Amino acid sequence: MTNTSENSRFLKACRREEVDATPVWFMRQAGRYMPEYRKLREKYTLLEMVAQPELAAEVTLQPIKAFKMDAAILFADILLPLKPMGVDFEFVKGKGPQVHNPVRTAADVAALKPVDTEASLGHVMEAIRILRGELTETPLIGFCGAPFTVASYMIEGGPSKDYRIAKSMMYNAPEVWHAFMEKLTTVLVNYLMAQIDAGAQAVQIFDSWVGALNGPDYEAFAMPYSKRILDAAHATGVPVIHFGVGANTILPLMKKAGGDVIGLDWRIPLDKGWDIVGHDRGVQGNLDPVTLFSTPELLEKRVKDILRRADNRPGHIFNVGHGILQHTPNENVKAVVEMVHEFSKR
Ligand code: CP3
Repeated sequence: MTNTSENSRFLKACRREEVDATPVWFMRQAGRYMPEYRKLREKYTLLEMVAQPELAAEVTLQPIKAFKMDAAILFADILLPLKPMGVDFEFVKGKGPQVHNPVRTAADVAALKPVDTEASLGHVMEAIRILRGELTETPLIGFCGAPFTVASYMIEGGPSKDYRIAKSMMYNAPEVWHAFMEKLTTVLVNYLMAQIDAGAQAVQIFDSWVGALNGPDYEAFAMPYSKRILDAAHATGVPVIHFGVGANTILPLMKKAGGDVIGLDWRIPLDKGWDIVGHDRGVQGNLDPVTLFSTPELLEKRVKDILRRADNRPGHIFNVGHGILQHTPNENVKAVVEMVHEFSKR
């Protein structure tokens, strides 16, 4: 069989089929650690790059060309649906995303606009179509944020340590919270479905800040909305990856919400995480992204440890346990891709 993207290692692993070697890609693999990206970034802001499908496609391909990962992830951001909903924000150097009109009250929720995905986010789907034309062997991953994580930015107005404002809305005005989550989830479902229609071959749901919730709160306030997205994506037949950070105590609930593959952060040994998730699902992870700042010797040890814990069981996708950081030495990224392939050869 020729090596087309449909029978690639990555999609096979998502389906828990046997592979010739463990597939590897990295969350946030396109970005500021790469000189190719920084060069473009001198001319354009992140949002300008994302808005131009040719540029978004080019940035998506940069890490694939440089490091030969087994999957490409569309260059976009989990916050893109905010502006079409009427919530304005910008990325401020050193401060992260800053929302100008955060959602705090019932009136703010009522004012959120329904989104015509093609009209306002059509550039994302155009980037996917361009990429599918250019990528012959490497599958393309689409993504969105999980409702809790996206909502927490929209309510807090930016990054937060304690999610005080978002969780206070949950506890003190649950009807406002649920009305908000309903609206947001509809937007996210439509956005992810449009990515799949345009050609995304797998999708990942990023629940980066779900670690702020305990099990009962996750179950009551976040899980039903994540589940709506995961169910809709699953029904299309494309593999779905469900990733949370700091979520090791709620892994059984995340599994229940959905996902063919559960993304593990770097805090839990991979075999322990997989035991909790259950071997009827795949797992993705989970190298500590900070180890990429270390020596090849330490990296070799850590890569081998993760692969040993995965034990060549079908369904492991190698990744970092949270996104690659700015300033990550490029040669270590390349080395890890090569190590994973070499050490996991069947
Ligand atoms: O993985 C990839 O390479 C695809 C592109 C991608 C970006 N953001 C591009 C980006 C993906 C998958 C994301 C997801 C995303 N965005 C998440 C979930 C993943 C995670 O790390 O938990 C989150 C929480 C966001 C929100 C967001 N966007 C933050 C917190 C920031 C950093 C802001 C800053 O100034 O440091 C962004 C900006 C962003 N998104 C950058 C990139 C490459 C860097 C901005 C730049 O180039 O100036």
